[in-house]
Amino acid sequence: MVKQKINCAVFVSGRGSNLKSIYKYSKTKYSKILLKLVISNKPDVLGVTFARRKKINTKIINYKNKSLAEKNIIRYLKKNNIRLICLAGFMKVLSKSFIKKYKYRIINIHPSLLPKYKGLNAHEKVIKNNDKFSGCTVHFVTEKLDSGKIIIQKKVKRFKFDTPQSLSKRILFEENKLYPIAIKKILTKI
Ligand code: GRF
Repeated sequence: MVKQKINCAVFVSGRGSNLKSIYKYSKTKYSKILLKLVISNKPDVLGVTFARRKKINTKIINYKNKSLAEKNIIRYLKKNNIRLICLAGFMKVLSKSFIKKYKYRIINIHPSLLPKYKGLNAHEKVIKNNDKFSGCTVHFVTEKLDSGKIIIQKKVKRFKFDTPQSLSKRILFEENKLYPIAIKKILTKI
């Protein structure tokens, strides 16, 4: 057992498969993280249902006013002594000042081989450009969207018959394995 665990928050907006894999990792014998908080901008998504079922402290953030929303988030982060933030399908862009406050403490997973295909619809772009490979990337979050230092990547072959959905499914399978590996990798540096 690791005695001093790092308090971790996961931010979601939807399905929460990466949240599940981080949770699973957090429960392993030698994990160095404690999943203390889940933040979501949406109330009824699968990620939130999962977090509540597992009795993780879960906060729904009203994003009508972004600066107020972030103030609230920061309040919860402080209250829970959060030292690592994992974005996992969180569909809101964090402000520069928020990111500055948590420099090198926010990481994100993206379904492409960054720096290729930042932003939305990565799978569509891979297919349109007839790329032979795609994949997923875990990276530090900086002020520029999907542009921070890469922690780890996994290549996934793209087949001729792939649709965005089939490719996305295979990549997600790898994402779920990759996120805990990325966390382990950076923890030595935090
Ligand atoms: C993943 O494909 C991730 O790369 C992207 O959003 C999706 C979230 O999936 N940022 P899930 O909610 O973790 O299942």
